[in-house]
Amino acid sequence: MYKKSDPHLLQEVVSIFRARSTTNQLIGGMNEIEFETIREKIYNWTGIYFLDEKKYLLEARIVKRLTMLQYTTFKEYAKQLENETFLETELPFLYTAITINETYFFRCMEHLDSIQNFIIPELVREKNLHSKEKKIKFWSAACSSGEEAYTLAIIIKEEIAPHYPDFEFEIIASDIDTSILSKAKTGLFTEYSIRHIPAVYFQKYFSKQGSQYKIDDEIVQMVRFFSMNLYNEIEWKEVRNIDCVFCCNVMIYFDQESKKKVLLRIYDSLEQVGYLFVGYSESLFGIENPFSRNYMLKSLGYKKEERNRLKKQRAEEFV
Ligand SMILES: C[S@@+](CC[C@H](N)C(=O)[O-])C[C@H]1O[C@@H](n2cnc3c(N)ncnc32)[C@H](O)[C@@H]1O
Repeated sequence: MYKKSDPHLLQEVVSIFRARSTTNQLIGGMNEIEFETIREKIYNWTGIYFLDEKKYLLEARIVKRLTMLQYTTFKEYAKQLENETFLETELPFLYTAITINETYFFRCMEHLDSIQNFIIPELVREKNLHSKEKKIKFWSAACSSGEEAYTLAIIIKEEIAPHYPDFEFEIIASDIDTSILSKAKTGLFTEYSIRHIPAVYFQKYFSKQGSQYKIDDEIVQMVRFFSMNLYNEIEWKEVRNIDCVFCCNVMIYFDQESKKKVLLRIYDSLEQVGYLFVGYSESLFGIENPFSRNYMLKSLGYKKEERNRLKKQRAEEFV
């Protein structure tokens, strides 16, 4: 249901209506074969699956792209996607057209509380006992325009790092959509994005620039952005030795099989003890995965405990 306070949803509804009227001007809209071709290309490259009943959504999202390319039918576009050379150059534009980049600062407050109060103390204990490297590494996978990663940076700088002077904190952030990553790097945000930032941080780290808000460079410099398709196995080499992953509000677009694949890769990218957080409306329920559930105050984190698993396995083998 559309809420008055949700301008992103309103924008999406308006753009669907606009796109639909443009779609109607295109001869016949998208037929089943064209839908199947385009849906399959998207799925094979991104893991994002458009259900049959979401055909109108796919039409609405890519119609602007067709107009830009001066195609007058979906048939022409679907046919071109069968051409490998075209497909390769077109994919980044197609991702941009179909992905939803909705995000804002301090979106997952409860996860942040858990990180501060439970996860960091545990990871610090763990590293002090088992590791020479005093470093804790966060990853915002599917970071969109960067609000999640910058929120983490603010919390680390203000609430965490001062208590652990021996430790280094690193934040990496990735997304499939290169145009949204360029936006993230500018550090400029709209009124919508900044609306939940606690006043004390807002005053300290933001300044008005025209109609937008610029985040302080010292926060921008705490985050390293890079492009990465979570669905592409080869691209996972970049991410290793992660202590805590935020993979929020992206797996909702994947089917069960893609979710399973991505979860296993996240598991492998984590240290021996590590955590995964997903969005509030998501859950790993019903998806085969190696994580254990860890309830902390109001939030649920998924935990990797490889060391314990291996110990248990060895003990069982011994008996
Ligand atoms: C709704 S935003 C979520 C942003 C942020 N994580 C949050 O929760 O506020 C979803 C992001 O997932 C990205 N995305 C979609 N499919 C992806 C894939 N296969 N690999 C990496 N990123 C993907 C989109 O480009 C988009 O920026």
